[in-house]
Amino acid sequence: MPYAAGKAIEALAAELGGVDLVRLSANENPLGPAPRVVEAVRREAARIHLYPDSGSTALREALAQRLGVGRDELVVGNGADELIGLVALAAFEPGDEVIVPHPSFEPYTTGVALAGATLVPSPLAGYETDLEDMGRRLTPRTKAVILCSPHNPATTIVRRGPLGAFLARLGADPPLVVLDEAYGDFCDDPEYPDGIALLRHHPRLIVLRTFSKIAGLAGLRVGYAVARAETIDRLNRVRAPYNVNRLAQVAARAALEDTEHWERTRKLVIEERARLSAALARRGLAHPPSQANFLLARVPDAAAACERLFRAGILVRDGAGVGFPGHLRISVGLPATNERLLALL
Ligand SMILES: Cc1ncc(COP(=O)(O)O)c(C=O)c1O
Repeated sequence: MPYAAGKAIEALAAELGGVDLVRLSANENPLGPAPRVVEAVRREAARIHLYPDSGSTALREALAQRLGVGRDELVVGNGADELIGLVALAAFEPGDEVIVPHPSFEPYTTGVALAGATLVPSPLAGYETDLEDMGRRLTPRTKAVILCSPHNPATTIVRRGPLGAFLARLGADPPLVVLDEAYGDFCDDPEYPDGIALLRHHPRLIVLRTFSKIAGLAGLRVGYAVARAETIDRLNRVRAPYNVNRLAQVAARAALEDTEHWERTRKLVIEERARLSAALARRGLAHPPSQANFLLARVPDAAAACERLFRAGILVRDGAGVGFPGHLRISVGLPATNERLLALL
């Protein structure tokens, strides 16, 4: 089944007859991109007749410095989405088993299926990734384990202690462990582990991150993987030469320099998340404590609530489409949008 990304925001706005539509269904950055990113893209626009740097060299250099890793331990992708596909293409073969939390971000499943490997779903325990269950599903055929932390759509994290114990139990010849940290920038739980620090002791770990969320570059498509150089080399062998376009590369570099916008986004999301969470609780709408830039709230009639919000110009995700029927997945928006949302609920 094709990934249900939903209709383009422009098409939906047209359906509403031109009403201003705010999208709280795709976990985008409510502040938009930083002004200096927009300026960098504008400057670069006159050079789009030139192919981009095929290795995203300057961006990797900037990331390597920021993260304290080698340039050869990084590969940049056309969104983290592409990197999920590249891992599957490079590593998964028919007969391989890949353990994936269920439900979770759909492209993991597609990657496994496209590679002809066998998906081994590991049900969440409520809203939590169940490492015990994942451990029980390991076999000699397990090629990889995919972890999503914070989890999309469940909003929860895998904490440092349990993750360390899980990695340790994988033994001397472990499977690949893909740790998707797309929403890691929004965590304030001190028990949230730094995936990159874990790489020192876990050579088969692949950490995925993105500029789509915290940096507001979802429309340009830039993500990256951090792993040991041998793993990165394998990913580079299956990637298209010009996978990350020129505008995306300069925008991501400018975003890295604009730490102020990064921090402003983080602060806004963390503050508004707490406010939304408390207000939902007061309305009796149960939800797991979120470490992401969205909430997953149980509501009496999710489809009707979605429709009502849409008619009022706010788009949220019906949980039925992401494995949580009876829930709404709601991105944290600007304060005024969140107010409006709460009034409509
Ligand atoms: C868990 C998770 N991983 C990866 C991605 C993909 O990010 P990108 O926009 O970089 O492809 C998303 C996007 O929503 C996501 O939710």
